[in-house]
Amino acid sequence: MIINSANRGNYIEYKKNPLPFRSWKREVRTYNSINRNDTSFFRDGDLFAKLIDYIVKFFKNDSKVNLYNYGCSNGEEAYSILMYLISKFPKDIVDKFTPIIAKDIDNFAIEKAINNAPHIICTEEKENVNKFTNNKLDHFLENKNGRYFIKDILKNKLEFKVADIKYDYKNINPNKSVVLIRNFMPYLENSIERQKLLNNIGHQLQNDSFIMIGEFDLRGTDWKINNQIIEAGFERTPVEYLFKKKG
Ligand SMILES: C[S@@+](CC[C@H](N)C(=O)[O-])C[C@H]1O[C@@H](n2cnc3c(N)ncnc32)[C@H](O)[C@@H]1O
Repeated sequence: MIINSANRGNYIEYKKNPLPFRSWKREVRTYNSINRNDTSFFRDGDLFAKLIDYIVKFFKNDSKVNLYNYGCSNGEEAYSILMYLISKFPKDIVDKFTPIIAKDIDNFAIEKAINNAPHIICTEEKENVNKFTNNKLDHFLENKNGRYFIKDILKNKLEFKVADIKYDYKNINPNKSVVLIRNFMPYLENSIERQKLLNNIGHQLQNDSFIMIGEFDLRGTDWKINNQIIEAGFERTPVEYLFKKKG
């Protein structure tokens, strides 16, 4: 069965070609989640822990590492990484990886992050913050009637900016950089645009640098993104979703 149109304006904008019914269903599901600044604290806590443990070890002899979080939304992803780093590692390691440069194309999301807008978090999220920080939720977040605010201990270790990675990749330091580009690849118009961006990032980075995608990037691109990343000059690492620029 071929579906030529759907009763959803934005959906039609996103995917104009006729699609087999099964693909259509998948795209609608994708659509439902890509049009949001969807994020949460420790959304992928186990993965973040593996990533940080891995890069701390990899860069053990270096004094500075550039940690970028593109598509940072309201900052919960970057703050999660920061909370884990501070909870587990000594100050010199935290200093090495901070400030985290967090950027998003959406100025509303960045405004919220800069103005420390309240975070409404569910029970599972609270449990995750405690799980990955040795029960330090209250140390990092201030609870005011169920609305959570970022405390100063985190604030000065993050820099938020509005930026579109399609152009801003040029500002990434080519050396000793770890670039999170998680869960927004399906926003890009099509696989040609994705390949163009990945190639540009690949050209920008040297072989001591990494990129990391998210699970939604795989799902939302029919699992093609892995091959595109390899095509752009990266290789897999022992950490799932983390790729290293090839030498
Ligand atoms: C689904 S959220 C993911 C947030 C976070 N990375 C996570 O995984 O929890 C996608 C974010 O990517 C941002 N985004 C989309 N296209 C972008 C681009 N070209 N450059 C920078 N950010 C982008 C959106 O504004 C949105 O905040």
